[in-house]
Amino acid sequence: MIEMFHFLPASASGAAARFDLLMLALMLLTGAVALAVTLLIVWFSFHYRKGSGADRSDAPAGNRIIEVAWIVTPLLLFMGMYVWAAYDYAQLYRGPANAMPVFVVAKQWMWKLEHANGHREIDELHVPLGQPMRLVMTSQDVIHSFYVPAFRIKQDVVPGRYTTLWFTPTRTGEFHLFCAEYCGTEHSVMGGRIVVMPPADFTRWLQQGTSQPGIAAHGFELFRRHGCSGCHSAGSSVHAPDLNGLLGRTVHLQDGRTLVADENYIRDSMLLPKKDVVAGFEPIMPSFAGQLSEEEIMAIIEYLRQTGAEHASASK
Ligand code: CUA
Repeated sequence: MIEMFHFLPASASGAAARFDLLMLALMLLTGAVALAVTLLIVWFSFHYRKGSGADRSDAPAGNRIIEVAWIVTPLLLFMGMYVWAAYDYAQLYRGPANAMPVFVVAKQWMWKLEHANGHREIDELHVPLGQPMRLVMTSQDVIHSFYVPAFRIKQDVVPGRYTTLWFTPTRTGEFHLFCAEYCGTEHSVMGGRIVVMPPADFTRWLQQGTSQPGIAAHGFELFRRHGCSGCHSAGSSVHAPDLNGLLGRTVHLQDGRTLVADENYIRDSMLLPKKDVVAGFEPIMPSFAGQLSEEEIMAIIEYLRQTGAEHASASK
C-alpha cells in the first residue's frame, strides 16, 4: 500500500520489508501520540476558554493513577519499538552462513565487483532471486558508500579495511546502486544497477565468459608466486603459523590478546605483519603492503577460506 503512493522506493529485499513495517509502526505510534495531544489541547482550549460556563469549582489537585498510566504506557510502547528496531539492526550485520560472497572494490569513480567463480562486473551486480548475498567491500582510494535504496541497505566502503553487507533479494528486476559518500568530482555519477534474476537464469549468466580461474584458484597462484607457501606449509624449515582453516579460528597473540581470525585480521597480517603476532612465533614476516592489489588480497583470503573448508571436511 505504501508503494502505491510512491512514498518509498520499491521494496525488493527481506530487509526492505522489515524496515518498511518498522517505519510504518513508528509513524502510526508517533502519529497517534501527536493526535491525542493535539485533540486534548483543542478540547481544553475550547472547554475552558475565558467566559465559558465550565465548572471550575472543586478542581482536583492530582490523580496518581492517570499520571502513572501516562508515564508507563508510552515508556513500554517506545521501549518495545527500540527493542524491535535494535533487533532488525543487529540482523543487518549477522548474515546467514550460506550467503553467496561477492567482492567489491570501490574506486574513483566506479564499482568493481567479482563473484567467487571469477566472473567480474563493473557498476553492475547480478544476483539470484531469494539467495542471501554477502558483500565483502573495500576501497582503493577514498571512502565510498554502497547504497541500494530498494534493498534499504547502505554501508561505507573504507580504504584499508573490509566492511560487509548482506541482503536477500525478494523481487526480480533492476534496482539503482548509488555511492552515498561524497568522493570527489564525479561522485554523483558513481552508480550502477543491481539485476535480480531467477536462479536458473543467474546460473547460466554466471557461467558465461569466465575464462579466468575462480578467485580461490587465483589466490593459490598468488600464494605461491609471492612466496607465502615457502614458510606457511607443513614441510617448511621456517617456523611460521599453519594457515589451514584459519578463517573463523581463535588465535592467541604474543601480547596476550585473543581474537577470532576474520578477513580484516588476515588482511592486516599481510600488510601489517607486526600488528598481531601469533603467540610462539617470531615477528619475521615481511610486509606485503604495496605489492598486492585489493583484488589480489581478496583472492588470497578466498584461497585460505577454501583450504579451511577442505581442512574441515578432511578432518570429519
Ligand atoms: Cu564514491 Cu561517492
